[in-house]
Amino acid sequence: MKVFHTISEIREFVRAAKGRGESIGLVPTMGYLHDGHLSLVRRAREENDRVVVSVFVNPLQFGPGEDFERYPRDLGRDSALAAGAGADAVFAPEVAEMYPEPTLTHVTVDGLSEGLCGASRPGHFRGVATVVMKLLNIVSPNRAYFGQKDAQQATVIRRMAADLNLDTSIVILPIVRESDGLAMSSRNVYLTPEGRRAALVLSSSLRLASEIVDGGERDAASVRRAIVAGISAEPMARVDYVAIVHADNLKPLDRLAGRVLIALAVFIDKVRLIDNVVLDLDESAADGAR
Ligand code: PAJ
Repeated sequence: MKVFHTISEIREFVRAAKGRGESIGLVPTMGYLHDGHLSLVRRAREENDRVVVSVFVNPLQFGPGEDFERYPRDLGRDSALAAGAGADAVFAPEVAEMYPEPTLTHVTVDGLSEGLCGASRPGHFRGVATVVMKLLNIVSPNRAYFGQKDAQQATVIRRMAADLNLDTSIVILPIVRESDGLAMSSRNVYLTPEGRRAALVLSSSLRLASEIVDGGERDAASVRRAIVAGISAEPMARVDYVAIVHADNLKPLDRLAGRVLIALAVFIDKVRLIDNVVLDLDESAADGAR
């Protein structure tokens, strides 16, 4: 497996592969790979002749005071893990390679970027959409793979690809969890042992919500209350948001119907973690939902 640091090198790799008639799958990441990332790499391996994993901690998507500087980085480990999961190339540019000048051009996906994580992280999805657009232009893959773990990001990228007629299929894959339910995340390494235990409140409160909905509850406020109560029972946890929205347009719902996304962000000490579940419900209960 090859590791490239420059845009011209990865472009040459892709050009040669395409010249042989090979298809390309791209898995964009910020590195510090775990099994969630690797599930994307394995699927890309199954569906493409060549698999490229990008590892780039994108400064544009971090706000002031966020964890850009201390975000975990280990390219040696990432390259070995990517190779083990079937990657042919890692593209790991420096910031100066991706942004030789402060970028004046941004991609903004209106309407989908402002709520949920966008409310507590202004400009975050503009940074994500811009860097993903750049990566897609650099690698020009046939398919690009993203995780449902970042549900709003997946929605934003899918919409960007549709709106701008990108010639790349966007593939979204399920959340990979630790055996106790915690959604895998590079940021889990920030957790203290007590925080790691407290972090189970995210997945357990989502499970509780699913059970309540299975039992017939369709009132969004009631479901939300149950989740907030579950999280508040954990002294180390502080709710950032709990949102119950339509999975496709991220609009808040009064009553649960159709494809419903329940998404939350919770601070465990100072570590902000996210998780979500999508419920496929009968459309007919949609009174008051639109
Ligand atoms: P990062 O957080 O490294 O995640 C890279 C990809 O892995 C994303 O598509 C994310 O949704 C997916 N992923 C992370 N944890 C997962 C899990 N537990 N199960 C399934 N998939 C998971 O998301 C980013 O990087 C960046 O915003 C990026 C898209 C690379 C742009 O900079």
